[in-house]
Amino acid sequence: MTQDEMKRKVAAAALDYVQDGTIVGVGTGSTANMFIDALASRKDEILGTVASSEVTAERLRGHGIRVLDLNEALTQVRALSVYIDGADEFDGDKNLTKGGGGALTREKIVAEASDSFVCIVDQTKQVEHLGAFPLPIEVIPMARELVMGVARDLGGEPVVREGFTTDNGNIIIDVHGLLITRPRELEDELNSVPGVVTNGIFSHQGADVVLMGAPDGVRVID
Ligand code: A5P
Repeated sequence: MTQDEMKRKVAAAALDYVQDGTIVGVGTGSTANMFIDALASRKDEILGTVASSEVTAERLRGHGIRVLDLNEALTQVRALSVYIDGADEFDGDKNLTKGGGGALTREKIVAEASDSFVCIVDQTKQVEHLGAFPLPIEVIPMARELVMGVARDLGGEPVVREGFTTDNGNIIIDVHGLLITRPRELEDELNSVPGVVTNGIFSHQGADVVLMGAPDGVRVID
């Protein structure tokens, strides 16, 4: 089975976590795109969706799926029922690295606004420790050199993502070479630096369930 076939299977399996009559948070990336395509078959049974990026909103609307602004959604419901999104890495405690697509801040906001987070990945994303995938940090442009210095002090090699601006008008710094053995502490430490909007460690907003695609089918890790 190819990686794309595994992604398609987990994307379809995630439909089991979509409850009728609720608002669903939708992530960003190739696996999330496959979920959006699958969700089209349920569009008349849900109240709507909240998108974690402009590109996701556009794809949802392309399928005729209702997209609500998060603030509008939270005036109608206490929380979104579920957030469904991919990840760049996940560890044994369901901590994630996200932001390969640069949408990490909105992804973290929508994950926090949801009752549960179902993460859809193929088996290539499983790691013992986060860090092999460069850690994305969304940064207000003025703080670029400050945050690069902090990343170097932590033993990483920061690289500005060339030609990329987030949906929020900021830059992304990808930090290579970190071995992240204490994800929650590092998430907090980086987020405490002025100018950091957020970083791609999802420990506070880690997954509740990981659906992992493998050649023999979908494994549920909860
Ligand atoms: C987007 O910003 C990311 O957090 C994605 O969730 C992540 O990059 C996974 O993408 P794929 O599903 O394309 O691997």
